Amino acid sequence: MPPALRGKSSIYKAMSQLASAHGAVDLAQGFSLLSVPGTSAILDHAALALREGSQNYTNPNGTASLRQALVDNSKRRFGVDLDPEEQVTVCAGAQDALGAAMLGLLEAGDEVVFIEPFYNPVIPMAKLTGATLRFVSLLQDDGSYRLDEESLLAEMSEKTKLIVYNSPNSPSGHVFTRTELESIARACKQYDAYLIADEVYEHLVYDDNKHVSALEIPELSERAVVISSISKSYLLTGWRVGWAQGARPLIAGIAKVHSLMSFCLPAFVSEGARFALEETPDSFLGDLRTIHQGKRDRICDGLSDIGIQVIRPRGTFFASIDIGDLGQGDDLAFCLSMPEKIGVAGVPMSLSWNQRRAGRNLVRLCFSRSDEDLDRAVSAFATWKRS
Ligand SMILES: Cc1ncc(COP(=O)(O)O)c(C=O)c1O
Repeated sequence: MPPALRGKSSIYKAMSQLASAHGAVDLAQGFSLLSVPGTSAILDHAALALREGSQNYTNPNGTASLRQALVDNSKRRFGVDLDPEEQVTVCAGAQDALGAAMLGLLEAGDEVVFIEPFYNPVIPMAKLTGATLRFVSLLQDDGSYRLDEESLLAEMSEKTKLIVYNSPNSPSGHVFTRTELESIARACKQYDAYLIADEVYEHLVYDDNKHVSALEIPELSERAVVISSISKSYLLTGWRVGWAQGARPLIAGIAKVHSLMSFCLPAFVSEGARFALEETPDSFLGDLRTIHQGKRDRICDGLSDIGIQVIRPRGTFFASIDIGDLGQGDDLAFCLSMPEKIGVAGVPMSLSWNQRRAGRNLVRLCFSRSDEDLDRAVSAFATWKRS
């Protein structure tokens, strides 16, 4: 096995396994245990499509109707005109699209800059290509994060092929601002680099924060690809429907790798995803946001009431707690002991920085869970703190 693939399996899975071994509340894995009104109509439609639709291979780039729904959606939301033949390709979830982007766009001699904290699975895929990985951290003060343009430029050179980031950001909860995207656009232009923007949490943004898509930045129109999926927006992580949209040469590379690996998506899930994008009422995404904002406040208020320092996220469905204040020095060791010691599972955040150079005081908790689970987690922390 190449060195990039050696090592332990997914941290998310490992933490969930520990949760179930100890009967702990699983706030580790980034999937939802909720459903939004309107979900059953999507399921019914997909079930009908399974019975009545094609059972054969579909177009590897995605069915024509799903690609059309995706470009219509981008036109409606961001005012951009994308060509459904050459500027969109469908993948088996955002993860497939991200892996395909690394394999399809990078080669030895290239450099790629990851904005930290990053989404962990992209790193080994980038390493497999032989490219050189560079990292720039979001600066953190007082529970909020920001991107510093000078620090980004310091990691770039003529060799930089790609910048990669995810916003709304997992695990930090930061929502990149238009100003930050404009900094990234300037950096791409200066070094003639491309951009991969992972926007899977695009609809999970709270208070007066607003998701800004890389598709909205005119200077990025020839340089950026946006990757997203129905996983978090429609709480359908198991369907494996994702996509990449944007600059033609990048889409071609992603589509090529996807077609060599998973080849295509089933017709019925493609039709279910099209229905979700085109035929669910606007209230669906509004409800998704309202429900999650309520969950965010429930767990953040609950934890801060018992004296735990929490970073209240601007987006995503993850909050983070500062364990430094609790006398715990290392997030990984703490997370390994949490299910047994406290009865709650979370994810160590330092693994989202290169060589764990930051985040050792932070633990990520997923709040896309029932109120009962969230309350149980808060009382478990309270009992542990008192003991
Ligand atoms: C930031 C980020 N990007 C991508 C993914 C992968 O999403 P998908 O389920 O669409 O493959 C996840 C899943 O947790 C994620 O958190």
